[in-house]
Amino acid sequence: MKLKVGDTLILATHNSGKLKEIQALLSPYRLNIDSSGNLGIEEPEETENTFAGNALLKAEYTATRTGHVSLADDSGLAVHSLDGLPGVYSALWGGPDRDFSMACDKVNRLLGGKPRDATFVCVLAVVWPDGTSKIFKGQSNGQLVWPTRGESGFGYDSMFVPKGDTRTYAQMTPIEKTQTSHRTRAFQLFKKSLLR
Ligand code: IMP
Repeated sequence: MKLKVGDTLILATHNSGKLKEIQALLSPYRLNIDSSGNLGIEEPEETENTFAGNALLKAEYTATRTGHVSLADDSGLAVHSLDGLPGVYSALWGGPDRDFSMACDKVNRLLGGKPRDATFVCVLAVVWPDGTSKIFKGQSNGQLVWPTRGESGFGYDSMFVPKGDTRTYAQMTPIEKTQTSHRTRAFQLFKKSLLR
């Protein structure tokens, strides 16, 4: 089940930024990494209502069509007082223009005076062409603040203060964010399980 030097891994994404970021993260392992976007494989509709369901659906779709091991991620912000919303709809709440100041505003309005605990979640799904699969989940717990603070990052970063810090993710450098990020934690589990 381990991935070794020279093995091909296809990322189920059309996002070239994500491809670059993951290629950099996995560069020490010398895998042959490409993406479904580069190979002209369309993205399936994300019809599941869990992060794991959507990550699996994307990785299965790409593994079946390429005959190679495929990796997909699905991530978002789960706000506890909002029953986990925006959750799997985190990207959609930014609207067609991906306007996340609007999405942050919506979260803040819906929250009103309710408790502001929230969790960033990242689920990685790895699927082999024979249908075998593995799931890795990383989380970052924190609190939502208002008004938003900071300019770096993306999505909901400017309203999220991770546990143990006083700054939002948008007030941190990318390296500082990786110390506690849900994505880093999911990749740590992935590397520990599947890479040498
Ligand atoms: P996807 O996993 O690419 O579908 O994106 C999920 C959405 O969740 C993104 O568009 C962001 O709005 C949000 N999200 C996921 N991870 C982060 C993060 O690290 N910071 C801020 N927002 C995030």
